[in-house]
Amino acid sequence: MSTHDQAEPEEHHGDSRAPGNFARDATPPELRRDTPGSDESVGDVGVVIVAAGSGSRVGGGELKQFRWVGGKPMLLHSVQMFQRRRDVAMVVCVLPKAFVGDPPPWLFQCDTDRLLISVGGRERTESVANGLEDLPDEVNIVLVHDAARPFVSEAMIDRVVAEARCGHGAVAALPVVDTLKEVDETRRVVRTVERARLWRAQTPQGFPRDLIERAHAQARAEHVSATDDAALFERLGLPVVVVRGSERAMKITDEADFLRAEALYATPE
Ligand code: CTP
Ligand code: MG
Repeated sequence: MSTHDQAEPEEHHGDSRAPGNFARDATPPELRRDTPGSDESVGDVGVVIVAAGSGSRVGGGELKQFRWVGGKPMLLHSVQMFQRRRDVAMVVCVLPKAFVGDPPPWLFQCDTDRLLISVGGRERTESVANGLEDLPDEVNIVLVHDAARPFVSEAMIDRVVAEARCGHGAVAALPVVDTLKEVDETRRVVRTVERARLWRAQTPQGFPRDLIERAHAQARAEHVSATDDAALFERLGLPVVVVRGSERAMKITDEADFLRAEALYATPE
């Protein structure tokens, strides 16, 4: 977690609904709202997919979240995966400011009735906060997901939603398997860290809406940002549990990760 001077977002939120005139729903009928989600509360999950980063560690001409991996643009994988669930009321895609008025056309190969575009901020925390503001009223459970993790599985989304419905935060994560060494500036080992209780946090992360809104409001007021949303939740003393994530839900961070991700995608889970 870091503290920094955070300017007010300069971007103006206009009507962020995807323009209907070029919207085309190319999702096959059999994939639309047909996947068992939580049957008790159909249509109250809102998903914020943050895709407003600059991908500086990958570099290159095209933003990493728009590059193809596993047969289609990275961001489209997660939009379509979340929209397969019938408990999902809305997917908010948070895009870099330059793309908000003119999103990549392939993005509309989904259920555009359940797609909103929001504008990103300078840091991930700000991008999530902007996406939260655009969620419709019917949303009770919020899932926050990194576009940079294109291969999220249905089962892990199920686990996150089920825990968030219990009233706390839920983080998809994997137990640490390597032995961990804490080192000093000269790389000399200071100690071996007990790994039994350590997990690597992934996304999606799920929360009751009122609580995650409170956590973000507080973070904004105190100029705090974090690399994930659970950290903002935790700092208010709110409970967060981990659920089993997936190796396939790895975050694509650098160029070599594209190759790793392709290989994982081709491997059955
Ligand atoms: N993200 C965002 N807004 C930001 C920064 C990041 O929406 N201001 C999103 C990214 O698009 C990504 C996710 O947060 O889906 C995780 O961030 P990361 O993997 O760090 O992506 P980038 O910030 O784009 O990459 P880099 O840090 O290498 O510049
Ligand atoms: Mg980043």
